[in-house]
Amino acid sequence: MEIGWARLRRAALEAMGRAYAPYSQFPVGAAGLADDGRLIVGCNVENASYGVGLCAECGLVSQLHATGGGSLIALVCVDARGGTLLPCGRCRQLLWEHGGPDLLVDTDDGPQPLTALLPLAFGPADLA
Ligand code: THU
Repeated sequence: MEIGWARLRRAALEAMGRAYAPYSQFPVGAAGLADDGRLIVGCNVENASYGVGLCAECGLVSQLHATGGGSLIALVCVDARGGTLLPCGRCRQLLWEHGGPDLLVDTDDGPQPLTALLPLAFGPADLA
């Protein structure tokens, strides 16, 4: 499937503009492509109880399932200046569950498979 990285980046930027980040002042937007071609987005949503804040990728994974399920094949994450962000450690684990090792994550060096960002990962297969 054609990924369309520029379209994903535009969608991530638009989602970033809707982030709720009054505590960190660090809005994040994420956009992903599902395996059926759906475009999925998310933004970070913070909370007065700081530790309860949700990363952009959390919202994105929720939208993936809320709009029909499937799994992710490509992801772009951006900050307020449109710079490429790499998912935090917790989100790498979250993405592993919903995209797997071959999920392509955009980086400053181009798209990388999630397995490069989370080597030797623990995942669903380990529970078998
Ligand atoms: N953040 C994300 O949304 N995704 C990440 O992968 C890294 C961090 C958010 C969490 C918090 O709202 C803000 O960025 C500053 O850490």
